[in-house]
Amino acid sequence: MSEGPIINIEKCTKCGTCIEVCPKDCLTFIDGKITHLSDECILCSHCYAVCPHDAISFDPTLLRTSSFYTFVLDIQQKHSISAQNFAAFSMSRRSIRKYRDTPVATEILRDLVEFAATAPSGSNCQNWEFTVIPDRSKVLELAHSIRNFFERLNSIVRNPIKRYLSVLFAGTALIRYYRDHFASVELGLNEAEKGRDLLFHGAPALIIVHSNMEGSLPLEDGQYAAYNIALMAHAMGLGTCFIGYASETLNRSKKIKMRVNIPQKNRVLAVLAVGYPDVAYERFALRKNYRVQFI
Ligand SMILES: Cc1cc2nc3c(=O)[nH]c(=O)nc-3n(C[C@H](O)[C@H](O)[C@H](O)COP(=O)(O)O)c2cc1C
Repeated sequence: MSEGPIINIEKCTKCGTCIEVCPKDCLTFIDGKITHLSDECILCSHCYAVCPHDAISFDPTLLRTSSFYTFVLDIQQKHSISAQNFAAFSMSRRSIRKYRDTPVATEILRDLVEFAATAPSGSNCQNWEFTVIPDRSKVLELAHSIRNFFERLNSIVRNPIKRYLSVLFAGTALIRYYRDHFASVELGLNEAEKGRDLLFHGAPALIIVHSNMEGSLPLEDGQYAAYNIALMAHAMGLGTCFIGYASETLNRSKKIKMRVNIPQKNRVLAVLAVGYPDVAYERFALRKNYRVQFI
């Protein structure tokens, strides 16, 4: 089958709308028929999505319709959301650091991943992979491995001689770690001793977004996918929190990466704690001033 759009000539009215939206100029009129010519198709499927006559399809082994367990996405319906509603919704998303014990159903976690994969991606590479940790006992196992990692790291960095000698083989990485993170990690380790989870905040599930880093902009792609999860979870009444410490550790420890079955060559782009919030916010969080220029 074709690696690009398949045009049903009986349905096609030759309106040319598909030609206008193709980002790679793959479609053109030849002998009065719309024809797919170039090898450059990035499978964005905009031609399929725009066609007013449903005359375009793709090899189903290459592209598929997103499908969800917990809600129905009616793609025929024109979605409209007011700017006010959208702003209120996205501004009311918070990083949740207190979760109820309630587990998150597998179908919901599956739908969050499915929705993640509807994010934009550079050259439409969609080169993201997901690892879902669906229950608290496994979250705790990962937390335990990460805790061991940081206990070892802090025991090295605590010693000023080791810290300064490390410059010879690790540059200033450990000096910076000591300055920026040592104290908060030390606190987290002490609190973990008392049974408090300052790493995953008691979340019953995790979604890890990773990538083999092939494609044009895999880092950005994975992060947009992860933010999609954060937004959709919020819409479903769930809370999320990006756990940067976990991403960093997974990328630094081959052993821990292996434990969660992530290929060594893959880079972890986001670890999201997921669960039902045990906290309610009364108003939007505030933001810092920023610089902007119109030129
Ligand atoms: C890349 C990234 C890493 C983060 N890592 C952590 C983390 O390790 N632990 C944590 O509690 N929050 C983490 N956060 C959450 C931020 O602290 C939070 O997004 C920020 O304070 C703004 O709050 P809001 O998300 O509620 O708007 C992280 C956020 C991002 C985007």
